[in-house]
Amino acid sequence: MNTQMHSTSDNKRRIINVSNRLPVKITSINEEITYQASEGGLSTGLGSVFSEMDSLWIGWPGMEVQEKLQDRVTYDLRNKNLHPIFLDAQEISKYYEGFSNEIIWPLFHYFPSYSSYDPEYWQAYLSVNKKFAEEIIKFATAEDIVWVHDYHLMLVPALVRAALPGITIGYFQHIPFPSYEVFRAMPWKKEVLEGLLGADIAGFQTEEDAAHFTQAVSNILGIGAKGAGFEVENGRQVKVQAFPISIDYKKFRELAAEDLTEKYAQKIRTDINTKILLSIDRLDYSKGIIQRLKAFECFLKKHPEWKQRVTFIHLIVPSRDQVRKYAELKEEMDRLVSDINGRYSTLTWQPIHHRYCSVPPNMLSALYSCADMAIVSPLIDGMNLVCKEYVASNISRKGVLLLSEYAGAAKELTDALLINPNDVERFANKINEGLLMPEDKRISKMKRMQDTIKQADIFTWARNFTDQLTGLRRTRIVSLPTPVNAEIGHYIDSSYADAGKRLMLLDYDGTLMPFFNVPADAAPDPSLYSLITKLSADKRNDLVIISGRDKNTLDEWLGALPIHIVAEHGSWFREKNGEWRNPQGLTGGWKTDVSAVLQKYVNQIPGSFIEQKSYSLAWHYRQADGKLAKDNIRNITAHLNAVLKQHKLEILLGNKVLEVKSNSINKGKAASYFMQKADYEFILALGDDNTDEDMFAVMPENGISIKVGTNISRAHYSLNSYLEVRKLLANMCEMAIIHRHNVPLAS
Ligand code: UDP
Ligand code: G6P
Repeated sequence: MNTQMHSTSDNKRRIINVSNRLPVKITSINEEITYQASEGGLSTGLGSVFSEMDSLWIGWPGMEVQEKLQDRVTYDLRNKNLHPIFLDAQEISKYYEGFSNEIIWPLFHYFPSYSSYDPEYWQAYLSVNKKFAEEIIKFATAEDIVWVHDYHLMLVPALVRAALPGITIGYFQHIPFPSYEVFRAMPWKKEVLEGLLGADIAGFQTEEDAAHFTQAVSNILGIGAKGAGFEVENGRQVKVQAFPISIDYKKFRELAAEDLTEKYAQKIRTDINTKILLSIDRLDYSKGIIQRLKAFECFLKKHPEWKQRVTFIHLIVPSRDQVRKYAELKEEMDRLVSDINGRYSTLTWQPIHHRYCSVPPNMLSALYSCADMAIVSPLIDGMNLVCKEYVASNISRKGVLLLSEYAGAAKELTDALLINPNDVERFANKINEGLLMPEDKRISKMKRMQDTIKQADIFTWARNFTDQLTGLRRTRIVSLPTPVNAEIGHYIDSSYADAGKRLMLLDYDGTLMPFFNVPADAAPDPSLYSLITKLSADKRNDLVIISGRDKNTLDEWLGALPIHIVAEHGSWFREKNGEWRNPQGLTGGWKTDVSAVLQKYVNQIPGSFIEQKSYSLAWHYRQADGKLAKDNIRNITAHLNAVLKQHKLEILLGNKVLEVKSNSINKGKAASYFMQKADYEFILALGDDNTDEDMFAVMPENGISIKVGTNISRAHYSLNSYLEVRKLLANMCEMAIIHRHNVPLAS
């Protein structure tokens, strides 16, 4: 057992791993059903960590299984904690080969012209994603963590979230996320992004991938980035982060030292008896197979001195050969290999030993350990594990790694000889350079690369991801708040009555007052005014009206009362004595630029208007066509992207209002400021929209948070409307009076 995985603080977590492909696949169904390890980085990478976790892995067993045999397969896999999802021939063709591998794979690997946008593929993708989500929901409890992997299942996070709003979901993408210019070509881009935002963490291989995703969400969905991620419905946070995947370093070291591996390696060395170059890839146009063969031929041409002294072992693992572009690639590759062999072979030497098959682990390890040089040349690759496996298996440290600068791994393995696979001549020169590299240099480079991988192996990767998810699960308990019933009402009243010192943080619009078409119409009515007067008259109460409204309006409406006021989400604070101040460092110099952009939308969208505040700008669209306005929020966000970044601003989406403000202020910070002012025994926070979630997030454990409305929230409890809020506050006053009469206070 790997102790690292278990050193985490929460041993009880159960992880439900979900990927299109299970780590084992069915290879034949006769009287016996035969299973074999699946190929590809996802299966090999995750395979090791999965066996160390308390987890279930849900996925497809790689072949169509007749209905009458499905129970048997389910039974066989149960012992391995695997649960199969069965796909019929149509689903395999349209969801797996079609949408996943004829649309997403080529587009995300920058082969947009290979993508074939067949609407039937989309329908199949949608229905298979639903099938996966339904199966997950059958197994998952609110306590579990669901970890969804890769591009086949991009809709699953949101589908699971819709059924289990409070569950913790991670998504990790093993392939690249392309730049916005490429991604936006996809007809179903919006649905895909919305699907991914169902996760709590969206993880990618590199910082670039994470940045591309962030930009796509801002531009396409109009949600501005907040910190390293997004705030989505009801204040739920989605973290976007790079988690470069790695390998089970120790396993590859041990495998290389096994007798069987050594036996195979000896045999290869004896049979070949020249320097060995090695490439291992799935058949895939992203792997630069054709470019590599051309570079090898160029090398033979430019450096005839290496003829008979170098052999290229070229292992291609069969993959997706029902997809046209893969079949075409295979034909081209076969032709090129036989051309080169035909042209350069002698009676005793063949330059390329080409195999189209997969190999068992000891043979793989033997190939790695006896190769003088591994050539890994993708045109683009999320990470590429083959290069890391080669480095780990190179016990002698005398090998050389030639690595494409376009593999995710190139960012970590900086000691590799980096190549641009399209630059055939320089690529050929690098092969020569690698073969001539002095032994001491090879050893020191290999050692540094081994240290890098050893330090950041697959266990570190998985722990990093799952610990973050577990942490979120513990701290971010976003779920449906419990409606305040008679019992809870009584608990709130009596906690209030019993408390010596009380803090009440009250949002204004939507919480104490209903919404009006014209914001200026929401002045407090006499009944609200008298309620606030009554509450603030009690010396034990500190009342804070905590609002996004501008300072002047709040001062005009409520300034005569002995209360605190937070205006513009925390840009202004008013003490009870009537003195206003604002946090240091706020500026409004950016408002001219932002105003110019917003004005453009005011002109386009009748009924919308801009509200000027001291340190923020609000674009209101309560009286505009809601759909038109919402559709344009995306454009506004995209339009403002650069200025937001430049001035450290953020967009807040409130109730029919988009507000631009400094990202250094929010209601959470304002609430924290008041909480520290005294030793409160009773803290109540009431609010109705996204901006109030920041306030709920900072509530102490014994605080009482109430969401006005019925959506999911960080708040513990919910009330339906401002009328219920007023009733609750009035009851509290009543109860305190009764309490005062019955129980004499100490003072
Ligand atoms: N691999 C395999 N069987 C083989 C040869 C290779 O399973 O016969 C594995 C290899 O060990 C590596 C994975 O396939 O872990 C390829 O992962 P990589 O990240 O390099 O590329 P991907 O296939 O994921 O695009
Ligand atoms: C890559 C993908 C995986 C996939 C693997 C093999 O590693 O990221 O999701 O499983 O290739 O491809 P296949 O189509 O055989 O599952």
